Amino acid sequence: MDKVLITGAAGRVGRAIRPFLRERFALRHFDLLAVPDPDPREEVVVGDLNAPHDLRAALDGVDAVLHLACVHGLALSFEDSLDANYRATLALLEATREAGVNRFVYASSHHVFGAHRREGFDAATLPLAPDAHYGLGKAFGELACSMYAHRFGLRTLIVRIGNADPTVADDRALRLWVSARDLAELFAIGVAHPAIGYDVVYGVSTCPSPLFDDPVARRLGFQPRDRAEDHLDAGFVPYEAMPPRLGRDYVGGAYALTRLPTQLGDDA
Ligand SMILES: NC(=O)c1ccc[n+]([C@@H]2O[C@H](COP(=O)([O-])OP(=O)(O)OC[C@H]3O[C@@H](n4cnc5c(N)ncnc54)[C@H](O)[C@@H]3O)[C@@H](O)[C@H]2O)c1
Repeated sequence: MDKVLITGAAGRVGRAIRPFLRERFALRHFDLLAVPDPDPREEVVVGDLNAPHDLRAALDGVDAVLHLACVHGLALSFEDSLDANYRATLALLEATREAGVNRFVYASSHHVFGAHRREGFDAATLPLAPDAHYGLGKAFGELACSMYAHRFGLRTLIVRIGNADPTVADDRALRLWVSARDLAELFAIGVAHPAIGYDVVYGVSTCPSPLFDDPVARRLGFQPRDRAEDHLDAGFVPYEAMPPRLGRDYVGGAYALTRLPTQLGDDA
């Protein structure tokens, strides 16, 4: 059974996908926080991706890396994201290469396209347009993965995740929602599919008027099993009831309209 190192495993996505992945892989969970209640197929390592000793120990004996760890948030500044989203991703890629591990799955986000308007959006033809510092860090992470894939042959799957909440909160999420089961399946494809070189897929289940078409995931054999419409939140907010100032017309929602924290400060 392949052993997979999961960074950021104590977070929302890590906890949600864990039951699906541990059926297929031996898991080593790595996070600043301990993952609770491991079973015999799971190891728990508490550590910091920016501590070289922690990183080397975490990678010892693994076959693949699933990189979920990050910081995020509407008000996230570049400085706030520098350690977790830039330095840690590069350090992990370098340590992965050094350890001779040849599989990497990167949890990216639809926020790399977040500044585009939803109307007429087409990920296949439009350039990346991050909506804020979180999405900008994800675009950096994708490029860092691409550098390691193309220079060192690291087999890499980029998964641009839609919305991975347990239920579908509003009309924007409805068009890019993903279940934990479908997301775990895409991650498993990244870990094990023989044809992965450097590939980019979208982490979305079956959605009405989907924002992302995903020919690459289909080519890799991915067939979503869950439908967003079957998982509407009790307080689901339709488009008409979403305040325009919260970004209902943008791929990235509120991220696309929130004031960007500036490094210069307010009085500069
Ligand atoms: N949740 C979603 O809807 C969604 C949507 C798009 C993309 N994603 C991506 O999926 C991934 C997981 O998201 P999430 O919602 O679980 O986030 P989360 O904030 O719940 O979890 C992130 C985890 O990373 C850990 N972490 C941060 N810095 C670390 C470091 N230096 N060393 C070790 N661990 C560290 C944190 O302790 C935390 O447990 C992220 O990369 C995110 O960008 C999530």
